Amino acid sequence: MDNKYTHLLNFKGYNFDSSLVDADFIENLDDFEIRDDDVFIITYPKSGTIWTQQILSLIYFEGHRNRTEDLATLDRVPFFEYKIRKTDFLNRPSPRLFCSHLPYYLVPKGLKSKKAKIIYVYRNPKDVMTSFFHFSYMMAGRETGNNMEHFMKRFLDGNVVGSRWFDHVRGWYEHRHDFSILFMMYEEMKKDLRSSVLKISRFLEKELSEEDVEAIVKQSTFQNMKSDPKANYDGILKFNDWKRPAEGHFLRKGTVGDWKHHLTVEQNERFDKIFQRNMKDLPLKFIWDLNEE
Ligand code: A3P
Repeated sequence: MDNKYTHLLNFKGYNFDSSLVDADFIENLDDFEIRDDDVFIITYPKSGTIWTQQILSLIYFEGHRNRTEDLATLDRVPFFEYKIRKTDFLNRPSPRLFCSHLPYYLVPKGLKSKKAKIIYVYRNPKDVMTSFFHFSYMMAGRETGNNMEHFMKRFLDGNVVGSRWFDHVRGWYEHRHDFSILFMMYEEMKKDLRSSVLKISRFLEKELSEEDVEAIVKQSTFQNMKSDPKANYDGILKFNDWKRPAEGHFLRKGTVGDWKHHLTVEQNERFDKIFQRNMKDLPLKFIWDLNEE
């Protein structure tokens, strides 16, 4: 039973996807040179990373807004710790945009100068778990058994890429004063995408014209991203035979409250108890269903 989750690589208590990282790079993360104008999106997996990548790349790249630029979103805002890199992205001209799933204690220490900026996106963990469950099932070799009970145990115990959701969110929140960081909530983005785009651009001190804002909002909606091959990540699923044939997409549903269709009453109550135990003293707000607002 010991070696059950062979795709996980544990480093200092945090689970990476062993097929995506390179041990040398991970061991030297601390000293990676940060530039003052670097921008990082940091998330726990399945919390809105690709969505925020799209928004960030649209804020920064005029060509992307005009649809004149050929690069996929993943290449404009590459994963910092993953070895899937099209070009030598670490040495790109500034401003460099990155995304990452790293916990607060593994990021380069240069981020503590507070000059480079971090956008931390979080999502209610029942929807994170639901999204993660479908994602894991879609990816070959992720041993979900297509069984939510089995996956829920793994998720709550942190036997997944990203380790325990509770630790990731709590860690970043409790250490927020060490960084220049903006917390964004997936559900708020869903409720009011325009205000979210403005909030992000203000944080980045990027002036946008009314036309720009409109283009960014339009191109960041779920439907638009899903039908845009540069934004929907479907291309990446062709790597390494990752995907089970004909099963699923990165952009699956993009809604708030889908967990209601996947958790039993008993599972939901059990989840609530564990959530309370782990998070009750944290002042972060969560939205579990948009209709109940
Ligand atoms: P679902 O599986 O619930 O649909 P990540 O990028 O961190 O892996 O997160 C993926 C989740 O974000 C998926 O959730 C995906 O559909 C959702 N998502 C991506 N783009 C979105 C958008 N424009 N609007 C709403 N949700 C989006």
